[in-house]
Amino acid sequence: MIKRFVVGNPLETEAILNKVQMSEEKIPYLSVTQQGFSYKLEPEDIVYGLGENVRGINKRGWIYESNCTDNPFHQEDTRSLYGAHNFLIVCGKERCFGVFLDTPANVTFDIGYTHFDEMKITLTQPDYELYVLECETPEEIVGEFRSLIGPSYLPPKWAFGFGQCRWSYFTAQEVREVARGHRENHIPIDMIYLDIDYMERYKDFTIDRETFPDFEELVEEMRQQGIRLVPIIDGGVKVEKGYDIYEEGVVNNYFCKDAEGNDFVVGVWPGKCHFPDMLNEKARRWFGRKYQFLLEKGIEGFWNDMNEPAIFYSENRLKKIFEQLETYKSTNLDVNTFFQFQDLVRSVANNPEDYRSFYHNFRGKKICHDKVHNLFGYYMTRSASEAFEELAPGKRILMFSRSSYIGMHRYSGVWMGDNRSWWSHLLMNLKMLPSLNMCGFLYTGADIGGFGSDATEDLVLRWLALGIFMPLMRNHSANGTRRQEAYLWDNMAAARGIIGLRYRLLPYIYSEFMKAALKNEMYGRPLGFEWPEDTIAVRTEDQMLIGESIMIAPVYEQNAAGRVVYLPEEMKMLRFSGTELAEEKVLEKGHHYLEIGLNEVVLFVKKGHILPLADGGECVDQVDWENLKLYHFAPQGADYELYDDDGVSAAAVLEGHIRLLKV
Ligand code: GLC
Repeated sequence: MIKRFVVGNPLETEAILNKVQMSEEKIPYLSVTQQGFSYKLEPEDIVYGLGENVRGINKRGWIYESNCTDNPFHQEDTRSLYGAHNFLIVCGKERCFGVFLDTPANVTFDIGYTHFDEMKITLTQPDYELYVLECETPEEIVGEFRSLIGPSYLPPKWAFGFGQCRWSYFTAQEVREVARGHRENHIPIDMIYLDIDYMERYKDFTIDRETFPDFEELVEEMRQQGIRLVPIIDGGVKVEKGYDIYEEGVVNNYFCKDAEGNDFVVGVWPGKCHFPDMLNEKARRWFGRKYQFLLEKGIEGFWNDMNEPAIFYSENRLKKIFEQLETYKSTNLDVNTFFQFQDLVRSVANNPEDYRSFYHNFRGKKICHDKVHNLFGYYMTRSASEAFEELAPGKRILMFSRSSYIGMHRYSGVWMGDNRSWWSHLLMNLKMLPSLNMCGFLYTGADIGGFGSDATEDLVLRWLALGIFMPLMRNHSANGTRRQEAYLWDNMAAARGIIGLRYRLLPYIYSEFMKAALKNEMYGRPLGFEWPEDTIAVRTEDQMLIGESIMIAPVYEQNAAGRVVYLPEEMKMLRFSGTELAEEKVLEKGHHYLEIGLNEVVLFVKKGHILPLADGGECVDQVDWENLKLYHFAPQGADYELYDDDGVSAAAVLEGHIRLLKV
C-alpha cells in the first residue's frame, strides 16, 4: 500500500516516475507537520536506508543530513556525503513501513540520536511530498518504492570488468604504461579512467594536446587491447575568453546567477568557473550535447564529478577572508584567535552562505540554489544521459556520478565518493551497497584501495576481495598518494588471482545485476532481509548476500588471519585461491572462525542454489558465457536463471535473455 501526501507547495524534483493518487487517510503512527514528522521507535526496530551514508546498514543511533557535500575526510561523525537519498524503512514487530521525502533542500534524520527511542525528521523547506509505503517485509517495500521511482540505469556489459584510475595519468604515455602493466602481467582490465589532467587547463570537453597529442589514436589503440578510456567531466566551466563552452554559456544565460543577475563566480579546479544551470531545461540540453565532443572520438563512458556542486571558494568569500586575514597580521594568535584564524581559512570551501548566494532558472522561476541544492548532480548527469539518447540511440553508455538524488538512478550509477585508504572505509563500502540498492542505485562501488591516504598491499588485496562483488569495480587513488595499481605490489600474483576471479564470476554478477534492475530487486541484500526472524542475522552487518545464491564475508582488519563468519543456515563454503577453487565444504548453521589468506576469497553458497562460473578472461569480451562450471549446494537439484544479452542495447528485457541452468 502506497500513500502520498503533499505538504505545502513542493517543487517537482522528478524523483518519482509513477505518481500515485494523493491519500486522504492519515497515518496514525506518524505525526506529520510542515517541519517534518516523528516516530516512536521500539527497542528492536531496525531502520534501513538513506542510501549513501556513513555508519551501519541499520541507521539507528546517529543523525544524518541530506545535503550533498564534497567531503574527502568523512568519518563516523560525518552527517552527509555526496548524495541525498531521503528513503528509509522502519522494520519492527508492530509494523514495517517505508518513507520517502521528496524535497531538494536539506533534511535532517535524527534516528535515535537525541533520544534512542525516537526518529525525528526535520525539513528546512516546509514544502515536500511524503510517500508512506506499508508492506509485510522490507524487500516488498523496496520493490514498491522502486516501482514508484522507475527502472535503474543499465551500464554496458564491459563496465562490469575491472577499471584502473588515478588522479592522474598525466600523459598518453602513462596511460599506455598502465595498459601494459596489466596486459603484460595478465591482470584483467576493461577500463582506464582519465582524470582531470587529460583536459586543457581543466576545461570540460577539451583535450590537452601537449600531453595527449594522439588522443583519438590512443582511444583506438586501447580498444584494440580490449580497454576503454573513461574520461571525467566536472560540474564547473572555466571562465576563459575564447573558450567556446564559456562563451556560449554567457551569451545564452546558461550559467547560474548571483543576486544581481551576474554569472556567479566560484573557484574549482581551473580557478574561476561558472556553474551551468543544470536545472534550466535549455542549459541542460546544451550541456548534455557537449559530450558529443568525446563520443565522436570513440569514448563510450564518463564519470561526472564535483557536482554537489563542490565550491573551493566564491569571489565574495575570498575577498572577505583576505580582508579579515589582514587584521590577524598584527595579532598575537593565542588560544582564542588562533582557532578563529584557522576556522576562517577552513570556511572558504563549500560555505553554506555561498550556496545561498546563487540562483537557478527552474521552470521559468528564479530560485535560490539552497532550495534545490540536492538536485544539481542529478540534473547534470541527466543532461548527459538524455543527450546520449539522441547522440548514441539504442546504446548503453557508461555513466556514473559523484553527487546524486533519487531519480538519478534512472540515468546513471554512482561511485561512493572520495574515501581513504582506511580499513574502516573498506567496511563502509560493504555497508553502503545495500542502502544504495534500496534507492535504485545498483551500479555502484567505492574506490578500491582508498582514494586519499597511502594504501598498503594487504589493504588493496582485502579490498579487491570485496570489490570483485561490487557492480562497479575500480581501483582509484589521489594525486600525491602512494601508487596502488595491482601490478605494482610485491604480491602481484594475489592481485591477479583475485581480479581474475571477478572475471570468472561475471556471468553470475551480470545476471544478478540485470535481474535486480529489470525486476526492481536488490543486488546486495542485508542478512536481515533473508532471515528476519534470526536476531543474529538481523544484527550482522559485515556480511552480505550478493544475488540469490551467495553470501560474502570479507576480511576488513589489518593483520587478521581470518574472521568469524555467521551462517544463518547450513551453507557450502567455497574457498578460492586466486581464480581456482581450493576447498569446498558444507558448514553448519552458526559461528565459524575461518582462516582466509591474502590471496584467497571465501564465499558461501546457499542451499538449493547454483553459482555459475566462467573460465575467466582478461577482458569482458573474452569471457565465455556458454561453457560454465556450475558450483552448487543442491542435494535435491536446483535451477538457475542465467541472464545474457548483447550487453550494449539500451532496451534490455528479461524475455528471451534467460537461460535455465540445472543441476
Ligand atoms: C574529486 C573526485 C576524485 C578525482 C579528483 C580529481 O576529488 O572525487 O575521484 O580524482 O576530484 O578530479
